[in-house]
Parts: sequence; structure tokens; C-alpha cells
Amino acid sequence: MDTKEYTHGYHAYPAMMIPQIARTLIEEYSPKGELRTILDPYMGSGTTLVEAALKGVNSIGTDLNPLARLMSKVKTTHYDEGLIKNQFIEISFHLSFYDVGKVLNRNFDRVSNYSYWYSEDVLLKLSYLQQLIDEYANDSDFFRLILAEIVREVSFTRNGEFKRFRMSEDKIANYNPNPFELFEKKAKRNIAGLRAYNEIAHRANVTICDFNSTYGIPHNIVANGSIDMVVTSPPYGDSRTTVAYGQFSRWANEWFGFDNAKSLDNELMGGGKCHEIKFKSIELAETLAEIQVLDEKRYWEVISFLNDYSHSIFNVSNVVRVGGRVCYVVGDRRVKGVQIPLDYFTAEMFEQCGFEHINTIVREIPNKRMPSLTSPTNKVGNHVQTMSHEYIVILEKVR
Ligand SMILES: C[S@@+](CC[C@H](N)C(=O)[O-])C[C@H]1O[C@@H](n2cnc3c(N)ncnc32)[C@H](O)[C@@H]1O
Repeated sequence: MDTKEYTHGYHAYPAMMIPQIARTLIEEYSPKGELRTILDPYMGSGTTLVEAALKGVNSIGTDLNPLARLMSKVKTTHYDEGLIKNQFIEISFHLSFYDVGKVLNRNFDRVSNYSYWYSEDVLLKLSYLQQLIDEYANDSDFFRLILAEIVREVSFTRNGEFKRFRMSEDKIANYNPNPFELFEKKAKRNIAGLRAYNEIAHRANVTICDFNSTYGIPHNIVANGSIDMVVTSPPYGDSRTTVAYGQFSRWANEWFGFDNAKSLDNELMGGGKCHEIKFKSIELAETLAEIQVLDEKRYWEVISFLNDYSHSIFNVSNVVRVGGRVCYVVGDRRVKGVQIPLDYFTAEMFEQCGFEHINTIVREIPNKRMPSLTSPTNKVGNHVQTMSHEYIVILEKVR
């Protein structure tokens, strides 16, 4: 199964949805009547939006992470392949004449602790790359997204982890990444993806937003009852103790001076602290009581996440039309060894909003890159498998 086909391989992202899952859900679980608009309230890298476009269906996606919005936008845009190729040739040509004296912008203050994370040689090369992109391809984000992936890869961050851990001094001493080579390789890869996407994808409308569905959905963008289908994979818990989307994205978010680069993880679902339960759940009552006995602090962290998640479900419910369907891909997260059945919780919250459960598909996660080091206690070396199954919860709005 090729999970990188079309534009899906443009940029890595934590906990990406497998495109074929989104595709199958759209094919097999689309609601009766017309399928005009699909919503993804946690779009991440935009997998659902790309799959919707491949089917000719309009889509709306939102994410608080600016890097996720850049990915989703670039992955769903029908750039002119010929123009992109010419811009690539121009940039490559100038890269081959790199000279440190040509670098115009040498101010890296926007990147926190930059000399701790990068060598000077790499910083100057990144700056030159950006300079050429601005000069020869200023009208498109196509090449900026490539640079976004490179700024992370050439930093001293440890490979294979989402959190910001620096490599050991030994490794750094022998680490000599080449941003220009990476650029050429990734540009060729992405141009091939663009060609495949342009051949198949329809010119569907794609709307990329930055609203937080926990607080409400702006009705000038998504009217009540206007959504036919929701296909999404929400976070499994807060970013601090599960997947650190903000930390993973901070290299690019800082490089481009995007908003909230440093505070993003606190703003994502469950990032705030609270001491009040704002939902009613029979399904989770026992589980939550068990966690409370084991660890009061962790208990309130879980409650904060579930408060936000249940509000989001309430708001999403309002924009789905009667007969519309929702497909939520969720994981079976463990806290203090206690499994939290998020699939049951998801179904229960939707049922309270006029939905009927259709099916829950259970899938083993074969090779998804999971934060095996993000143990509940966050101690490095404590290899706890936080997730092993994925549940696709499907419901239909009946009233
Ligand atoms: C599991 S990822 C989605 C992955 C996506 N399906 C893909 O294929 O790339 C969850 C996403 O939810 C976003 N997120 C977390 N809390 C959010 C919120 N309150 N509002 C919008 N997006 C949020 C994170 O930034 C992250 O990108």
C-alpha cells in the first residue's frame, strides 16, 4: 500500500491518517443523498482534504497548527507543473553557485536558541535557500513547504522523535547534513506527486481554516446543517503527554515566523487546565474513577482533554445535516496502565447529539510511528506502548 501517493508524501507529520482509510470511508460510508462537503475539524497534514479532492468532493478543514495549514493548502493546490519545474531549475542553478557572501539575511533571532540547534553553515544555507525561493518562486508555497521539512531535518534534533531532544555531542560532531541536496531530492519527489494529483484530482473547493471547534464553528464559514460527512482523526490526548504536534512543528513555525510557534501545544485540545467535568459519560465513569484513585493530577489532565473533545463533538454535530455521517479514527490510549475507551466516548457524545451508531471498525496499527518514548511519566527510556489499536467510529445523524 503506497501511503505517499499523489500529494500525500509532500511532508511528514505525526500520526498521519492512512490515505486509503480516508478513501475507503468516503467510498463505503458516505451518507445517503448527495455528498457535497466533507469536514475535517482536525485536519493535520490534510489527508482527508486530498482524498476528498480526488473524489471531486468539496472540503473544509481546520487546524490550530500553522504548519498543518501550510501542508494542507499546498497538498490540495493544483500548481502548474510546468511553472513549478521551471522555478525548480532556476533555484537549482543558483544553488550550484552558492557562496557564503551571497547570503543576504543573517538574522536568525526568530528561531529560538538557534546556535544550539543548528550549525552556522546550515543556517546560512537555509537562509540562502529561502532567498532563492523568495526570488524565483515567490508566488507559491510549493517550495516553502519543502523548506519547512528541511529546517527540521537538518537541525540537531534526534531522528525519529516528535519532541525536541538534541543529539548527543558525538553525533553532532559527525553530523553534516546538506540542505541543498535534500532540497533537490524533495523537490523531485513533490513534483512527481503534483503530477499524479493534477492528473486525477478534481477542481473541488478546498477551504483551509484556523478555528478551534472546541470553542465554536464560525457559521459564516460552515453553516449549521451544511456538512454531509466528517472524516477525521482527532488527537488521542493532550500534546504534552501524547503526540507533541507543536514541538514537531516548531522548527518550521519559527523559521517562517508563524503565530503561536512556542505556545502551540498548550492551545491544542486538552492543553488547558481545569478542575470541573463538563460532560456526562456513563461509558467512562469507571475508567475515570480508576485513574483518579491512581493519580489525581493525571485524572484532571484527562478530564481537560475530554471536556474540550466533547465540546468539539457538540459543535461539529450542529453543522452536520440530518442523514449526514461522521467517521472518527481514534486510539486506545492508556493512562497509568488504564485503557481509556475513546471509541465508546466518541460514540456516546455523538449519541447525545442526535446521532445513531452504525459501526466501529477495529484496526491493528502495524507500522505507525508512535511516540514510544512518551510514557505517561515522560521518562526517557521508559518504553511504554501507548497505542496498539485504532478504532474507526461511524455514526449517522438521525435528528
Ligand atoms: C491526529 S492529528 C490529524 C492528522 C491528520 N488526519 C493527518 O492525516 O495528517 C490531530 C491534529 O489536531 C490538531 N488539533 C489539536 N487540537 C486542535 C483544536 N482544538 N482545534 C483544531 N485542531 C487541533 C493538531 O494540531 C493535529 O494536527
